[in-house]
Amino acid sequence: MAAMNSVAERRADFPVLTQTVHGKPLVYLDTGASAQKPRAVLEAMQSFYEREYANIHRGVHELSARATERYETVRGDVRRFLNAAHADEIVFTHGATEAINLVAQGWGRTFLKAGDEVLVTQLEHHANIVPWQLLQQQTGITLRVVPITPDGDVLIADVAAALSPRTKLVAVAHVSNALGTVLPVAAIAEMAHEAGALILIDGCQAASHMSVDVQALGADFYVFAGHKLYGPTGIGVLYGRRDILNAMPPYQGGGDMIESVRFSGTTFREPPYRFEAGTPPIVEVIGLGAALAYVNAIGLDNIARHEDLLLRYATEKLSAIEGLRIIGTAPRKAGIVSFVMANIHPHDIGTILDRHGIAIRAGHHCAQPVMEALGLPATARASFGLYNTTADIDALAAAVIRARELFA
Ligand code: ALA
Repeated sequence: MAAMNSVAERRADFPVLTQTVHGKPLVYLDTGASAQKPRAVLEAMQSFYEREYANIHRGVHELSARATERYETVRGDVRRFLNAAHADEIVFTHGATEAINLVAQGWGRTFLKAGDEVLVTQLEHHANIVPWQLLQQQTGITLRVVPITPDGDVLIADVAAALSPRTKLVAVAHVSNALGTVLPVAAIAEMAHEAGALILIDGCQAASHMSVDVQALGADFYVFAGHKLYGPTGIGVLYGRRDILNAMPPYQGGGDMIESVRFSGTTFREPPYRFEAGTPPIVEVIGLGAALAYVNAIGLDNIARHEDLLLRYATEKLSAIEGLRIIGTAPRKAGIVSFVMANIHPHDIGTILDRHGIAIRAGHHCAQPVMEALGLPATARASFGLYNTTADIDALAAAVIRARELFA
């Protein structure tokens, strides 16, 4: 297991990184969209399928018992990863998007009514906007939006101004996927609680870049996705405070979430099982467990330090390129650099970089309100992971300069 910290050794853990794309060595700078997977994750899933696979919580047979134990062990691993107080506060979902929808439909639809307010920021990606808009259509709640500053930050004063006795939930990103801004979520949680509201923190872009302590942050709900944390797709996590989950009705109905089913009435299991209807993503949970072990062996603090160096290096290197403007210059950022260039559409930048073997994302990054707020149709976005090097950024900068020359 990866107890070492040399980036070269880490890179060797990721089979996908050794290939060439369009004849050039792959430079993967799209970890914000999805992280690549270390061999430890791929092997854990393969080996589980080969030796231990069965459905969980159901069979009396040996394989089912073993699979159940492995699945529930990962729940404990996630509890430790987030420093949650109890393992039953960890719900496995099929993704972070489903986790937010679960809160909107399970908690919001039950406890909110017309006139209540849900507060989001203009930095949110669509997964933390649209579930609340659906809830708005269903219940008549008001969705209020905290504006962002021109440098892509969220100011505490603006959050304070938007809070009111009607605010029942504040739903904010921990880190902006489009710009990399790190939001002051602990301070926002404190303010939300003082106003009598709960807070949901969308940790999709944070959990792989910094250590997260849901108790220290004061989170009532915290969500993240396995695939952005070097784990598989199809697995997400919802952390919910025990008393809140206990009060919530099921979000979906089906097998495994019930105590007893009668046509005269059905009763439900306690959380977290009440929220895990049907056969869950068992193998993906095993993969997530392997991803957490991989990341823990390197250490989130080491990863954060490494990515901070990359961020500084990239910011300096890209800022020096004539005609390039970095979008999102808040004082606290995680490993994401969004940029635009004079006379070149971000999609063209992305396409040209791809011909150099460099993978970035170009577009609105599923965060159209951010683009609207900044008056841009799109940006090009480079996002970093634990396997990136300064050489990757040198390659990015060189290709960007060639793109500029091509369009000159
Ligand atoms: N939310 C993901 C991204 O930022 C898909 O690219």
